[in-house]
Amino acid sequence: MWRFTILLIFLFSVQFSRSQSIIPMPEIITFKEGFFDCNENVMIRHDRQTEFSAQYFSDYIQEVYGFKIGLEDKDLSPRAGTIKIKVDPSYSNEYYKLKVTSAEILIEGGAAGCFYAVQSLIQLLELKNGKCIIRAVEIEDKPRFGWRGLHLDVCRHFFSIDFVKKYIDLMARHKLNTFHWHLTDDQGWRIEIKKYPKLTEVGGWRKETIVDKNFEPFKGDGTPYGGFYTQQQIREVVEYARKRHVTVVPEIEMPGHALAALAAYPEYSCSGGPFEVGTKWGVFEDVFCPAEKTFKFLEDILTEVTDLFPSEYIHIGGDECPKESWRKSAFCQALMKEKGLKDEHELQSYFVRRIEIILAAKGRKLIGWDEILEGGLAPGAAVMSWRGEDGGIQAAKAGHRVVMTPGSHCYFDHYQSKSTGEPLAIGGFTPLEKVYQYEPVPKALSASESKFVMGAQANLWTEYIKTPQHAEYMAYPRVCALAEVLWTMPEKKSPGDFYTRLTRHFLLLDKWNVNYSRAFFEIKSEIKSGTGNAPLYLELKQRSSEGQIFYTTDGADPREKGVKYTEPLIIDKSVEIKFIDRNAKNSIVQSQQFELSKASGKPITLTHPPDERYGGGEAFGLVNGILADENLSGGRWLGWWGPDLDATIDLGSSQSIAQVELGLLRMENSWIYLPQFIEVFISEDGQKFETIAKKSSQEYSAGGRVRIDFKRCNARYVKVFVKNFGTIPNGKEGEGNKSWLFVDEISVR
Ligand code: ACM
Repeated sequence: MWRFTILLIFLFSVQFSRSQSIIPMPEIITFKEGFFDCNENVMIRHDRQTEFSAQYFSDYIQEVYGFKIGLEDKDLSPRAGTIKIKVDPSYSNEYYKLKVTSAEILIEGGAAGCFYAVQSLIQLLELKNGKCIIRAVEIEDKPRFGWRGLHLDVCRHFFSIDFVKKYIDLMARHKLNTFHWHLTDDQGWRIEIKKYPKLTEVGGWRKETIVDKNFEPFKGDGTPYGGFYTQQQIREVVEYARKRHVTVVPEIEMPGHALAALAAYPEYSCSGGPFEVGTKWGVFEDVFCPAEKTFKFLEDILTEVTDLFPSEYIHIGGDECPKESWRKSAFCQALMKEKGLKDEHELQSYFVRRIEIILAAKGRKLIGWDEILEGGLAPGAAVMSWRGEDGGIQAAKAGHRVVMTPGSHCYFDHYQSKSTGEPLAIGGFTPLEKVYQYEPVPKALSASESKFVMGAQANLWTEYIKTPQHAEYMAYPRVCALAEVLWTMPEKKSPGDFYTRLTRHFLLLDKWNVNYSRAFFEIKSEIKSGTGNAPLYLELKQRSSEGQIFYTTDGADPREKGVKYTEPLIIDKSVEIKFIDRNAKNSIVQSQQFELSKASGKPITLTHPPDERYGGGEAFGLVNGILADENLSGGRWLGWWGPDLDATIDLGSSQSIAQVELGLLRMENSWIYLPQFIEVFISEDGQKFETIAKKSSQEYSAGGRVRIDFKRCNARYVKVFVKNFGTIPNGKEGEGNKSWLFVDEISVR
């Protein structure tokens, strides 16, 4: 009998948590018996400060459920069938209390908190037997972080005011509160500045756009592209966001990423131009010149910008500023001497300090990407840490405010699925799980230093994102995971529970017309090393346990044909496995191609471990039978940022071999360079190695699969040494930084 009881409780609780879900998870949530019947007789009673929230709920009901509920702003005493929503000034701004009973709904909290209560209420609405209901519940809630951000790059591709509003509204539904609007860059200036009309007339348009990743040789689409927002439109967006308790932080890029501005006004560069608005991605040598007339120009621009945006912080960019044009400029060199600046980094620091003074005079604070740390941080500046966490750690330790947005977890322009059908992306691999696991407060900070972490944000750079549909696809559902990272205390977070809630949340995203990625429904494949005649195993798993996986090994479609998956598959030859979860909603056929060699699944040791940001950071990725594809998708590449690859593979016994092949990636705009040389060694005992072949960079200038043939010989151990390119040369994107070495699958034949 007790078994039966436990089973019932289990079933009930599964049902319960599936149908009752809020993302992000509230601090305290207790479900009760009964439900509130939300029908056309319901009235919402609000005070002056909650009128918008009340109207928001009423509009939502009208739009999604097709009936009207009325608003009242008079009698605030409780009455059956009402939703009462009221600001209590004793609460902090973002706190709320929400109580749903069968008789009424009571909401109180700070002004933003009341709006968030409405967002929770919206997520709790259910349609049961044709009735719109809300299950009885008590919630007390407030956010963990004050900066819960999402960014949008409207320069690389332009997005309409209507889409920007939808983007902000969706943020608000997930209780995010900071919209970082990236308004200016090399490829387009998107904000009207009355005093300098050419910024948008000239800087708002480029003559064409690079096709995919055709950097060398360059291939453009031949189509003029551009657009900008009028000041009237910007005011409209700022007000739209304000009502939703979202602050809009504008970004005006300087001193680098300024080519569009310089195309319009070349007199603010060091060389004088002329320039064209950028047509490809990356960084450009010409940047703002730190002359007095430039500071006057930027002050005029910031005067109009601060007039439009009431935000406490103004983002001034500061990232990826090549120093070449300053090095070549007699004016800059003289200025450095005059001001006692020892290098161009200190000159950039001087630049940022000048801008900070301009902003401070307007009562605003400066925030910039972590490069503003180089050469000394301006006294009151806040730092947005994107090149990992180090910049954020350094700034917080020095008592500066910090927003964390490391590329590893917060760049939503990265791939989120290993499926080969993914749309082209800039690179990287940041699946939903990784975003959910993100912890914005680095371990390196003490409790008092941690207070300087204002929060985190995700960035959506749009080099490869041309449409609103694609932007939503990259943002969702990763924004849902980010929202929980930023709102919910870590001890209340649980991936399993989040996935359960997300399964229902997808139905809401459908209602809200969001084009989210379906990667969540994909089968996760894991490759494991085997033994003897089974060099590799392929293990297939679902996030939900309901599915039925079917697979084929002959190229046939597993939707109809195929074998039911019951245990890991032995991979003992080159083969394509196609598989599908026949039960999953939105299920698609996935596939995994294996290319086996004598090295597949064999033990491999590395002198320097690969960077954990790529390919899972596991050496096994070099011998797992899977070749990374050209465009970085799928997260199969392994990366080393600085070190060389020094790998030794144990073939298990002495084997006859005559060739080593490996994949190399060249993507210099992403700091990924081909190695200086590759050397292959062999050994019978794993101690004494002899060189058998060497190839230098002239022999593999395009990258891709590089073959190294040698005289047939016998060996048990094969050692492959791949020499990192070294420091990125001046004039290239990322100059002066360590370069990346990207390698995949070492085949031995
Ligand atoms: C950046 O991604 N360049 C801030």
